[in-house]
Amino acid sequence: MHLLATTNGGLESITAAETATLVGVDADVHHRGVIEFDGNYDNVYDLHYQSRTCHRLLEVLVDAPISELSDVYDRVREAAIAEHLPFESFGVVGTRHGTHEFTSMDVAERVGQAVIDEYREETSKRLPVDLDDPTVRLEAYLYDDRFTLAVDLTGDSLHKRPYRVCEHDAPLRATLAYSMLHIAEYEADDRLVDPMAGSATIPIEAALSAADRVPRPDLDPAFEVLPNYDAEAFYDRRAAHSTGDPALDIEAREKRQKWRKCARVNREAADLEGKVDIAEADAREAAIDADCVVTNLPFGIRVSDDLRGLYQAFADRVREGDVDRLVALTTKPDLLPLDAVDRYDIPYGRIDAAIVVCEP
Ligand SMILES: C[S@@+](CC[C@H](N)C(=O)[O-])C[C@H]1O[C@@H](n2cnc3c(N)ncnc32)[C@H](O)[C@@H]1O
Repeated sequence: MHLLATTNGGLESITAAETATLVGVDADVHHRGVIEFDGNYDNVYDLHYQSRTCHRLLEVLVDAPISELSDVYDRVREAAIAEHLPFESFGVVGTRHGTHEFTSMDVAERVGQAVIDEYREETSKRLPVDLDDPTVRLEAYLYDDRFTLAVDLTGDSLHKRPYRVCEHDAPLRATLAYSMLHIAEYEADDRLVDPMAGSATIPIEAALSAADRVPRPDLDPAFEVLPNYDAEAFYDRRAAHSTGDPALDIEAREKRQKWRKCARVNREAADLEGKVDIAEADAREAAIDADCVVTNLPFGIRVSDDLRGLYQAFADRVREGDVDRLVALTTKPDLLPLDAVDRYDIPYGRIDAAIVVCEP
């Protein structure tokens, strides 16, 4: 079967590398934030409890070129819809890029009608539509002339980690945090420091991955209701997954007491006491010795002298210290006076950001 995995835009190569390592598939970019690959049911089960960068997995039902809106209807009518969908409510989300004479809503409406018609012809039953809270979610992508219809296998996005009990004002998405660790080539025996850790998302993701813990142990995946999928096989595989208990050297530094408290709450929720140190330190002053420094730098909409001074002083500490690899997410990469050996441009909310990689 053909599968899609959604992830953070700009970090498709990281998710492709992760899926290759975890389940041995060879993925390509479908479009920004989405990769595609051929896989099997076991791959779907394994990625649902092992992937740290995927948001959702989807199974492709239709993938075809189209030239007009009526082609959307025709291509969906040709697909074996009734074999893939249960008799449950469904909803279609449409996404469109390129120049067309119709909207993404038109695409979603045509898909919805074709699904209802095809299902009724095969089973004599009319599938109920629920656009607000459907049991089965279909994604219809139209990128230029490429139309792809896929069924969501995941449900609740995998990036919603259950340890995120205390929310920072500027929280980093857990999948983005882990992707930064992947870029830093972090390994369990490395010393890792996040000098501006906030609620400790990066240090917690590091410890969870080093101990091979399941990132979403609480997930009831959407494929549970789909025909052809064996949810029991998934739950058995997840329960049988073995974790490690390595000695770790991970430090979350933070200037503000409020966020150190928040980091402790999340560390406890992640069951990582004794695995992640949380320390009071000012990144402008504290010396750094670490194999990896991975951090999400503070940013403001306007550049203030404070921000400029912080980036400068932090860069000085990195240069003076003993740091093999620095991976930093910032919306102001030009303020960081360190030479980058690599860079990933990513959207961060509504602003542009970059992950810069330095070998000081
Ligand atoms: C963008 S936030 C990090 C958010 C974090 N990744 C998370 O998911 O919770 C940046 C953090 O740097 C902290 N910070 C700012 N200046 C600092 C300094 N000089 N030393 C240490 N921490 C600082 C802020 O208090 C803030 O919590």
